[in-house]
Amino acid sequence: MNVIEADIKKFSYDGNDKVILKDIELNIKEGELVVISGLSGCGKTTLTRILNGLIPNHYQGQLYGQVSILGKNISQYKNGELAKYIGNVFQNPTDQFFANIVEDELAFVGENLGMELSGLKKRVDDSLSVMGIENLKYRNINSLSGGQKQKVAISSTLVYDTKIIFFDEPSSNLDYRGIVELKNILEQLKSLGKTIIISEHRLFYLNDLYDRFLYMKDGKIEKVFKKGELTEEDCKNYSLRTTNYNFLLSENIDNSQNVVEDIRGVGISIGKKRINKKFKYKLI
Ligand SMILES: Nc1ncnc2c1ncn2[C@@H]1O[C@H](COP(=O)(O)OP(=O)(O)OP(=O)(O)O)[C@@H](O)[C@H]1O
Ligand SMILES: [Mg+2]
Repeated sequence: MNVIEADIKKFSYDGNDKVILKDIELNIKEGELVVISGLSGCGKTTLTRILNGLIPNHYQGQLYGQVSILGKNISQYKNGELAKYIGNVFQNPTDQFFANIVEDELAFVGENLGMELSGLKKRVDDSLSVMGIENLKYRNINSLSGGQKQKVAISSTLVYDTKIIFFDEPSSNLDYRGIVELKNILEQLKSLGKTIIISEHRLFYLNDLYDRFLYMKDGKIEKVFKKGELTEEDCKNYSLRTTNYNFLLSENIDNSQNVVEDIRGVGISIGKKRINKKFKYKLI
């Protein structure tokens, strides 16, 4: 069964004539994991905004074409109704929280979607436990790391048991260990039967997860790769990042490996006033 069917002839944002997307026909099956990649500005985020209904609900523009979600045209959904079926994990999860405390945030999402208060407490606990973050339940969201915030954002999509989850560059604020954890989470969500759509530049952690890989260029889907088809050669040809774990060093993301061991001749000044002498400092 297709959970999303899109036939986008043309899209441009209000106030700008530039055509951002054109001639995109895309159906996504239930339980599929689809990765969308391509150079910065090619339209990945815009496409996901159309597929998840944020366009036209939150971002206005001229959309020529048809999009239906779970068999119903997006224009037939009431305001806010799509949140029952679609969860979003934004690039910077901080943008999507309403409450200060983790438990309140998840409860808020459930209440907002009209869930019965009696069952809500358990749903909140279950959602935290799927992500393994029961220990964060009473924490202030602002005090959490990027990876922890992301897990809270994912948990919040589980409270109502949304069928489709969109991720926009989910690895961008994570270190290597965080990305490996993210990969495990995606595997778990997939095994729960979720449909997952990920816009991403970093590919190594998705290489054995994707069912379909879409390469976008200038607002179009230029090439579609089925499970396992994307090769290193393709990545080079399309200027994509590596799919290979072994080339991780070229991604330069494991910051823990780049420890500064020796600092010499560093001076600190405010305006013209020197506030320390040059020093030599060795870290252990
Ligand atoms: N809200 C907006 N209003 C007007 N133009 C926008 C808006 N959001 C994005 N654009 C424009 O649409 C084009 C595609 O942007 P989009 O964010 O979809 O690309 P992307 O592939 O996700 O890029 P990145 O890899 O940098 O995230 C860009 O030219 C961008 O400037
Ligand atoms: Mg983007």
